[in-house]
Amino acid sequence: MKIIQHHIFTIAGAIGLLLFSAASHAEVDAHARNLSASCAACHGTNGNNAGGMPVLAGMDKVLFVSQMKDFKSGARPATVMHHHAKGYSDEEFEKLADFFAAQKR
Ligand code: HEC
Repeated sequence: MKIIQHHIFTIAGAIGLLLFSAASHAEVDAHARNLSASCAACHGTNGNNAGGMPVLAGMDKVLFVSQMKDFKSGARPATVMHHHAKGYSDEEFEKLADFFAAQKR
């Protein structure tokens, strides 16, 4: 019985390790993750906010980029986002859009 139990734990450990390495190999653009860190203060970790700010997780990519460009140009009036949008290039908007679109709500 002891031996069987030992094997079960070994197998469970192996499965856990497999799942872990599969998760850590998931394609995450490290640059996008760094860029998004400065958004977390208001929009929450991975874009899932808890305090009444717009949720960015799962946001449509095209809409995301268009909103960021509109904040930057001033086409969309904002309280704070026009300041943030000015710090990023169009290419970085794309990366941020990819990152947030991939986050689960
Ligand atoms: C200081 C708080 C704050 C930070 C930091 C911040 N945001 Fe925002 N965000 C807001 C607020 C508030 C709004 C609503 C528009 C406004 O009043 O500026 C908003 C709106 C948005 C919207 C539009 C959402 C919609 O549903 O239309 C997007 C996209 C967005 N933010 C992206 C970002 C990204 C990307 C970053 C990081 C680069 C970021 N925000 C950082 C506060 C913040």
